[in-house]
Amino acid sequence: MGVDSLGYLALNVRKPAEWRTMLEQVFGMEAQPRPGNETIDYRLDSHHHRFTLYPSHEDSIAALGWEVNSEARLDELAQALRDRQVDVTLGSDELRAERKVRKLYTYTCPMVGAKSEIFYGPLVPNTAFAPCRGISGYKTGNQGLGHIAFWVKDQAAAVAFYQEVMGFDISDYIAWDVHDGVFMHCNARHHTVAFLREGVGPAGAIMHVMLEATSMDDVGYGYDIVRDLGIPVTIEPGKHSNDHMQSFYLQTPSGFWIEYGFGGREIGPDWEIKSYDQPMLWGHRVQV
Ligand SMILES: [Fe+2]
Repeated sequence: MGVDSLGYLALNVRKPAEWRTMLEQVFGMEAQPRPGNETIDYRLDSHHHRFTLYPSHEDSIAALGWEVNSEARLDELAQALRDRQVDVTLGSDELRAERKVRKLYTYTCPMVGAKSEIFYGPLVPNTAFAPCRGISGYKTGNQGLGHIAFWVKDQAAAVAFYQEVMGFDISDYIAWDVHDGVFMHCNARHHTVAFLREGVGPAGAIMHVMLEATSMDDVGYGYDIVRDLGIPVTIEPGKHSNDHMQSFYLQTPSGFWIEYGFGGREIGPDWEIKSYDQPMLWGHRVQV
């Protein structure tokens, strides 16, 4: 029981023009504007969209979407959330049409406070992804959109909830300086969520979202574009100790970071949980 992958992320954003520039020019995503309003869906693979931007007076998560691969398992997960006293609502036909999925439930994650959704049956249109710049694309498929890292007040409770209800397993741990992170998987991707003890960032806030390219050159060209556009690089290129991702981090117009990576290692049947004392093997010098 549990989720199979990270499906989509919908964001309320105060600076939609800056977000558009970043998603299109750096990440090559394909805009799917909605007729009659300012909302824009963004495509990056076979799915109709994986990101949505809602122009807003605040920066916040509008929907963190978790994909479940069957209706029966989706219903099971909704019940498991209710059994934990989480208020779960069946998504309306209107919301289903907006998200382009067959069925969904909405709730607020009790661990990070994010407006969240569990869904199944995302739309795969009969057109190819048409990137804005010449990229190879993104490693998604059954590993989902990527990973997301949150600051949390009660790390042990967050880990327990994502194990017992959401169906994740622990990948490994990193404790360094004042930081303390637990990394968790729900498919072959090394981690789909990470929970960092609050301190540097406030509990409930996103620390970063990771997108994995299918070519190191996508990341390298992206790094040059970020520099040319004057977008802040918050962590220089480097390689992580736990997932072996080669990546750099940039600051989004909402303040949290996006990690643009390549070459992450996968969870296999003989995976052994390790503890690391640094997040990097090399590089990844922090710039803030
Ligand atoms: Fe990451």
